[in-house]
Amino acid sequence: MNLYGVYGASGFGREVMPLLRVQVANDPEAECVFVDDSVVADIVNGHKCMTFEQFLGHPAKTRAITLAIGDGGVREKLAAKCEMAGLDFIAVRAKNSMALDESPIAEGLILCGFTTITSNATIGRHFHANIYSYVAHDCVIGDFVTFAPGVMCNGNVHIEEHAYIGTGAVLRQGKPDKPLKIGAGAIVGMGAVVTRDVPPGVTVVGNPAKPLIKD
Ligand SMILES: CC(C)(COP(=O)(O)OP(=O)(O)OC[C@H]1O[C@@H](n2cnc3c(N)ncnc32)[C@H](O)[C@@H]1OP(=O)(O)O)[C@@H](O)C(=O)NCCC(=O)NCCS
Repeated sequence: MNLYGVYGASGFGREVMPLLRVQVANDPEAECVFVDDSVVADIVNGHKCMTFEQFLGHPAKTRAITLAIGDGGVREKLAAKCEMAGLDFIAVRAKNSMALDESPIAEGLILCGFTTITSNATIGRHFHANIYSYVAHDCVIGDFVTFAPGVMCNGNVHIEEHAYIGTGAVLRQGKPDKPLKIGAGAIVGMGAVVTRDVPPGVTVVGNPAKPLIKD
């Protein structure tokens, strides 16, 4: 048997599972399972749910895993744990997602339905693009970056590691010699229209996007 794991049986994991299932449908020896550290049920949406240890101990011929956890920091820790255990990562790409010309993509990608990476973008490790998001030409996406649904990332935008871009955010295009920059660990709120660089670690909201200041 070839065992394929979706790490995380919460909302996003349950959305990723059907994509993986379709992807490996031509492999008669494939079995797709959820891997979760707090197994809530033995079966989730018709798939076995097992602990990480059970996944590693399963007598499968081959095994590979995808990290379907929205939080980039948690994803990085899990990636290190999987690497320590010698696991391979499987990239998950919805059938109707697209990656066009000359866009190198690092390991761990999840491209949900109706997503596009256009041409000459560079994609870091364990990038998630949730439904209806796109990354346009000449963007550079760092490691463990997360796009919620419907993110419009226009050309020449550079997003550093661990940034989170909320639902429906629009990122203004940069220029080849002056890309729009979203700093490491920054959060762009849902619906934000980002017209200026966002410093590392800062949360921005609104149109035009401004730092979210809490009392
Ligand atoms: C920006 C965000 C991270 C802030 O979260 P938070 O720190 O928990 O902030 P709070 O919910 O306490 O809100 C603080 C204030 O900001 C406002 N606010 C929150 N998110 C906002 C947004 N996206 N745009 C405009 N205002 C927003 C709230 O109304 C609140 O205003 P108030 O103090 O006048 O009542 C969050 O609201 C957000 O947009 N997350 C992305 C969600 C998403 O896309 N999920 C996808 C799941 S797949």
